[in-house]
Amino acid sequence: MREKVLEILLQSKDYISGETLSHELGVSRTAVWKAINKLKDEGYEITSVRNKGYKLTAVSKDLNTDGIKVSLPDVSRFQTVKLYDTIDSTITEAKRLFMDGRMKEGLILAEEQTAGKGRRGRFWSSEKHAGIWSSLLLKPDLPPQNASMLTLIAGLSVAEAIRELTDLEAYIKWPNDVVVGGRKVCGILTEMSAEMDYIHYVVVGIGINVNQQSFEENLANIGTSLALEKGMTIDRLKLLVKMLELFEGYYEQFLETKSLSFMMEAYNTMCINVDMSLKIESYGDIIYGKGLYVNDDGTLKVECKDGSIINVNAGEVSVRGLYGYAE
Ligand code: BTN
Repeated sequence: MREKVLEILLQSKDYISGETLSHELGVSRTAVWKAINKLKDEGYEITSVRNKGYKLTAVSKDLNTDGIKVSLPDVSRFQTVKLYDTIDSTITEAKRLFMDGRMKEGLILAEEQTAGKGRRGRFWSSEKHAGIWSSLLLKPDLPPQNASMLTLIAGLSVAEAIRELTDLEAYIKWPNDVVVGGRKVCGILTEMSAEMDYIHYVVVGIGINVNQQSFEENLANIGTSLALEKGMTIDRLKLLVKMLELFEGYYEQFLETKSLSFMMEAYNTMCINVDMSLKIESYGDIIYGKGLYVNDDGTLKVECKDGSIINVNAGEVSVRGLYGYAE
């Protein structure tokens, strides 16, 4: 009942009377009233006005599975959601779920991660209730070498979702970060289990700093949150849902076309590496050059200091002027 009432409240722009709700759902007014109180207990703000009825004025500050499910299309692959209050890492949990046969594809979220994983074995700080600590478990029918392109799809989806919902100018730092105001608001870590020619599963781990009010001293110049940049609390549910909608749309196109060409114009417009001086540490080499653009296959085209043009596959990229890189 709770879910059905929530669904109707989420969809109706105006007040809806208890009578209409009970009529539409075929239950008593008391059952409606109980469901409304349950939602209020969960943190939803529902205003009730005599002779008018109920109106949802603010979604819960906590993420909740039903809120996500009702906001996504019924056919979404992220209708399979697992939300934890605390977990070591949503990536690690996604792998456990797959390995135990408990989930094939879906979305794994946590309010807090105690062992959040960053790239290259780094720790990812995941303050409780402050971020979107999400992992997308996928089983794409793709050659394993294409899996890293999912990171780019995630980056574009996050940057576009941020722009749409907050009006902040979000940029993508190829290949793994989303940046606002010169600081990192999102990190993406994609992990995969595969044979040479067959993917068992891919986990796209996406961490978005949404509502943190401060950062540890050593991160203060590198990281920021959307709330700090915008000066107001951001609705995590809306941002998450927008990001998932965009991701799913791009993912379907990618599976169909096996190429990223459909989104590269948008990606390159938001890519902060373009036309910037870069230092790239890639498999033991250090390359200095200027970022040209990101290719359809997800590699970054760079004009090196000596004038040669190369495509970079992966690596640790420093962009002059960002995160304190000043060489
Ligand atoms: C990076 O920039 O180093 C990547 C950070 C990825 C963080 C996210 S938070 C959700 C998911 N679970 C994890 O343990 N890590 C990713």
